[in-house]
Amino acid sequence: MSALTTDERSNPNSGDSRWAVETHGLTKRFGDTAAVNDVELLVPRGCAFGYLGPNGAGKTTLIRVLLGLTHADAGTMSLLGVPVPRHRDRALSRVGAIVDEPRFHGHLSGRQNLEILAAARERAARGRIDSSLERVGMMHRADDRVSKYSMGMRQRLGVAACLLGDPQLLILDEPMNGLDPAGMHEMRDMILSLVAEGRTVMLSSHLLDEVQRTCDAVAIVDRGKVIRQGPISELLAGAAMEVHVGCSSPERARTVLATTAFGEKIDVDASGLSIHLPSGTGKDAIAEINRLLVEDGIAVYRLEELQVSLESWFLQVTSRLGEKV
Ligand SMILES: Nc1ncnc2c1ncn2[C@@H]1O[C@H](COP(=O)(O)OP(=O)(O)OP(=O)(O)O)[C@@H](O)[C@H]1O
Ligand SMILES: [Mg+2]
Repeated sequence: MSALTTDERSNPNSGDSRWAVETHGLTKRFGDTAAVNDVELLVPRGCAFGYLGPNGAGKTTLIRVLLGLTHADAGTMSLLGVPVPRHRDRALSRVGAIVDEPRFHGHLSGRQNLEILAAARERAARGRIDSSLERVGMMHRADDRVSKYSMGMRQRLGVAACLLGDPQLLILDEPMNGLDPAGMHEMRDMILSLVAEGRTVMLSSHLLDEVQRTCDAVAIVDRGKVIRQGPISELLAGAAMEVHVGCSSPERARTVLATTAFGEKIDVDASGLSIHLPSGTGKDAIAEINRLLVEDGIAVYRLEELQVSLESWFLQVTSRLGEKV
């Protein structure tokens, strides 16, 4: 969690909340569709937070509501401890955001675009143009026309534009969209370095693997509703466990375990067994499996607890097995 700035301490109206983003009962409907449905969201300060869900889950709509680009139908929210929309301008002065694709004037250079954006902000913003370009690794292309930029460069220029306001909170809608693996890698490093400076980055994404690599904590959203949220490590600790057993006679091992608590779901292949165990299963289960097999004369070569990915966990909690997310 980042320390409060002098700015915040000296301003009694400024938020002292632990949360960079806080919503309660937030709801936004389009006709019969609740694109944001009674969302309770707590984004801790000073972390990379993923708002994660499939297409149409309501990620962009939530971000638009937070930024005051569209009205909520119900609920309350605050950014950096400042209630919005009541104190929208004050809150947004410390927030940088990219919603959808960043839009720039293609016939102007990256630097000229930033100059236009800086002119619309507070005085200090102009003085941050060079450092922002430097920060996102775009100094060497700053004087080229934006129309010549790749998607990754536009995204980076988008982040540079956010940095003009020296934001404590960055809200990025699908920052990895359209990037190749190298571009994603750069974006990930950039997000992590912004967090290392004490800023909070909230990003939306449908790319589970990428979010797992980048974020400390996530909210999983499906059909407008947040169905789980918290640090990724804690969420995955509650996920089902999978243990792979390398052994001498896999079929016999399956028979031995079939009548025990471990027999519910076992897959057998040439190298051994994959045993799927319910969430909450402790490490003792692995030792017990070993004991049962060895007592039956089966040679156990290897016992391995497989890491559950965010993707397989997501499929478990949403019961959307087989669906593409
Ligand atoms: N302006 C609008 N008018 C009517 N329906 C809308 C509008 N904007 C969004 N929706 C609907 O709200 C739901 C959520 O849309 P939203 O764009 O927020 O999802 P998303 O999670 O950002 O999806 P994606 O991953 O495709 O960007 C969808 O059912 C969408 O059709
Ligand atoms: Mg979207």
